[in-house]
Amino acid sequence: MRYSLRINGALREVDLVAETTLLDALREHAGLTGTKKGCDRGQCGACTVLINGRRVLSCLTLAMMHGGDEITTIEGLAGGPEPGSKDGLHPVQAAFVEHDAFQCGFCTSGQIMSAVGLLAEGRTLDRDTIRERMSGNICRCGAYPNIVDAIASVAEARA
Ligand code: FES
Ligand code: FES
Repeated sequence: MRYSLRINGALREVDLVAETTLLDALREHAGLTGTKKGCDRGQCGACTVLINGRRVLSCLTLAMMHGGDEITTIEGLAGGPEPGSKDGLHPVQAAFVEHDAFQCGFCTSGQIMSAVGLLAEGRTLDRDTIRERMSGNICRCGAYPNIVDAIASVAEARA
């Protein structure tokens, strides 16, 4: 069946079966492979995207449930009007580069999307809170200290 999804501000027509996950719709049907498939069962966070600004595991939700929603993937993050953007990058992307917050990079888009969602939740974010609230995003390379540094730097700049 044909569905319309609003992804990164643009309406996309995709041919899906009803049980297609949002993750597969993004990667296999919309060609947006920046969102990664790790476990495909809600345990690693690699597939994190924003739906109406809130972080969601795209492997655990069906694409057909999001016809009226605004879906944001890592491809839609750069170039926005966000204060603190640097060289066209979203401030969280720029902070990850500055703090060397990745190694292989497989978890990175999910980490960044999750961090953007976390920062938008408007909580006071000390390092322990960041660690706890980011605990659903697994990094097999163990880049956690630098990931926390990157997120803390954006949180501090916004405080
Ligand atoms: Fe979705 Fe791992 S691929 S949580
Ligand atoms: Fe390799 Fe996180 S940077 S899994």
